[in-house]
Amino acid sequence: MRRRAYAPYSRFRVGAALLAGGEVFAGANVENASYGLTVCAERSAVAAMVAAGARRLEAVVVASGTAPPTPPCGMCLQTLAEFGGPALPVVLLGARGTRVETTLGALLPMAFGRRFL
Ligand code: THU
Repeated sequence: MRRRAYAPYSRFRVGAALLAGGEVFAGANVENASYGLTVCAERSAVAAMVAAGARRLEAVVVASGTAPPTPPCGMCLQTLAEFGGPALPVVLLGARGTRVETTLGALLPMAFGRRFL
């Protein structure tokens, strides 16, 4: 998915894969000449998951070219929290085989969610 990233402005390629309902949904970052319209890999994967009819996230993998591996941005963490709880496994893969295994709750403690509405 990193190879498919559309990142002509930052050249920062990110891929994401989500496990939901036993299926894998993939995404890559999609940039725009109007920079603020950029969609991160994680949110493009969430869109693919929801479009396919799946909603319950079981695991997240994010692949970047950095060491240590790039974590999801705040906007993506909030988007992931809509479909997964604090125990959701998040695996970050980076350059030179670097790998971090964490959870959504560790990356986004005290997440805002529908229970506050
Ligand atoms: N980006 C992602 O796709 N996911 C992340 O976790 C961090 C950042 C993208 C957005 C933009 O296209 C590029 O990386 C640089 O910020």
